[in-house]
Amino acid sequence: MRLSLPVIDDHPYDAEAIAGLQAEIRALASERGAIILAHNYQRPEVQDVADFVGDSLGLSRRAANVEEAVIVFCGVHFMAETAKVLSPEKLVLLPNLAAGCSLADTITPEEVRGWRKQFPDYVAVGYVNTTAAVKAELDYCCTSGNVLDVIDAIEADRGILFLPDMFLGAHVRRMRPERRVEVWMGECHVHAGIDIDALQQARADHPGSEVLVHPECGCASRLLYRMADGDLAPDGIHIASTEGMINLARELDADTFIIATETGIIHRMRQEAPGKQFIAADRAAECAYMKTISLLDVRDALTEMQHAIDVPAEIRARALGAIERMVSLGD
Ligand code: 13P
Ligand code: SF4
Repeated sequence: MRLSLPVIDDHPYDAEAIAGLQAEIRALASERGAIILAHNYQRPEVQDVADFVGDSLGLSRRAANVEEAVIVFCGVHFMAETAKVLSPEKLVLLPNLAAGCSLADTITPEEVRGWRKQFPDYVAVGYVNTTAAVKAELDYCCTSGNVLDVIDAIEADRGILFLPDMFLGAHVRRMRPERRVEVWMGECHVHAGIDIDALQQARADHPGSEVLVHPECGCASRLLYRMADGDLAPDGIHIASTEGMINLARELDADTFIIATETGIIHRMRQEAPGKQFIAADRAAECAYMKTISLLDVRDALTEMQHAIDVPAEIRARALGAIERMVSLGD
């Protein structure tokens, strides 16, 4: 598939200009009765202006329980749609409509229907990185934070269609070898590109470091295969969702961490675990979709009350069950 990625604007603002915009945004948010939610991959200055920063699961749970009438969602389109499905009476604003997702684009509702026809007795489980129209075709939705809890909640004798991320699917197969799992061959261009050799080099350069890997990474499955073959010692390697990675950075007794996911997460790690050192396994691992949202976009979203995300009632009704199951399972 050819990708058409948004261009990341450099926004060469100095600290004073950033602080000025942040103050303007906070004032507008309280004037408009808005809450600002941001994903762990957002630009540092956008994370810093948000009321809540988290992973897909934490953001969905937060969006389901907001008191404010307006949610400014600093994340990608499918996340804002999920917020709208969970809180249909709220106005959900996505500051920049270019914030898509290459992984969500790998499967359409028609393709899910066709796949289900081939495996009529199977339960369809989809990653949260899917459009609302795809979620409407699913039985369960999950995030990287609760994928195994969701799999365990399904009757043991039922086969599972897992979509759309092949690396997360491989992770499920490895962790639950007793289950029958068919996997859709989608991938995220950012995580697929994180190379196991670069990661191993970073590890060799920093002896004693802990390695934190997102399960969407191409290297995650290769690490798991090599660990299962006894070719690689599992000590010091952890596969976790973005929030799980942040918790590990805080809790593990190590000074240095190699981080295999989108680099935006390192900003939060530095805040949550000050004094520790975080090294990107691949410094080029930036999601152009996530980074397309700037402080100016957030300011304009609040000034103009744009861009409202809508999910047709019929799609919402069918997607809600799968999303509610996701929000209720796991820690
Ligand atoms: P999390 O569910 O771990 O937040 O990841 C979302 C995502 O888009 C990963 O690329
Ligand atoms: Fe989608 Fe990948 Fe960006 Fe996550 S990092 S939002 S999966 S394109």
